[in-house]
Amino acid sequence: MLAKIFSYFIPINVFKKKSSFSNTLELTWNNGELVLDSKNTNYSYGSLQRILRKGLKYIGFERIKKFKSILVLGVAGGSVIKTIVDEIKFEGKITGIEIDSTIIEIANHYFKLNEIKNLEIIIDDAFEFVLKTKDKYDLIIIDIFQDTIMPNFLFEDFFINRINFLLNVQGFILFNTMVISENDSIRNLTYKKKFNANYSIRMYPKVEQHNELFTVKKLKN
Ligand SMILES: C[S@@+](CC[C@H](N)C(=O)[O-])C[C@H]1O[C@@H](n2cnc3c(N)ncnc32)[C@H](O)[C@@H]1O
Repeated sequence: MLAKIFSYFIPINVFKKKSSFSNTLELTWNNGELVLDSKNTNYSYGSLQRILRKGLKYIGFERIKKFKSILVLGVAGGSVIKTIVDEIKFEGKITGIEIDSTIIEIANHYFKLNEIKNLEIIIDDAFEFVLKTKDKYDLIIIDIFQDTIMPNFLFEDFFINRINFLLNVQGFILFNTMVISENDSIRNLTYKKKFNANYSIRMYPKVEQHNELFTVKKLKN
């Protein structure tokens, strides 16, 4: 495709739409790759996919392959789901939660997310969903942004305790955060201290410029 080839020289915008949750959603060919961006940040594919792939590598592709169920909070174009399916060859159940139905239309149309057999997408607020669900998961990926903003609930005890409860023993949380200000660093250090000896938490700073990743392993109940 011509746009793909030209995009090695200059980014080529193919689509732009207003979104009530993310201001604007934009699809762009960039260096031969179709990426999804919000107004001020990369949402899916491109650097975001690299960041979460690193996180999955820290946990271990072989380990993840043996898991039975994965929960993805914040789906966007579904790049982490593609990594899980295409690269890890995960065959268990994937549940993806996304607040913005427009973004799922884009994901289905441009990235064929609806062709993934072991994926169920639920349009819901991740906070509401984790309160309701009765299922438990081996891996919970938290990747929730409204443009560059991370909602406060992600760092509050109520949500953290609920996620921990939904996680199977020997399971992992992968949490993507953005650190731009001093306050964000303090927020992340406070988050790290919230896990007791039943959990093993690791922080991976500067995964890509402003991103800091956490992996949390549940050792026992
Ligand atoms: C960085 S993108 C996710 C990228 C995705 N994990 C991937 O691998 O391509 C962040 C997503 O979180 C979604 N989001 C924001 N607030 C949410 C909420 N409260 N519940 C569910 N999704 C939310 C946004 O609409 C956006 O699609």
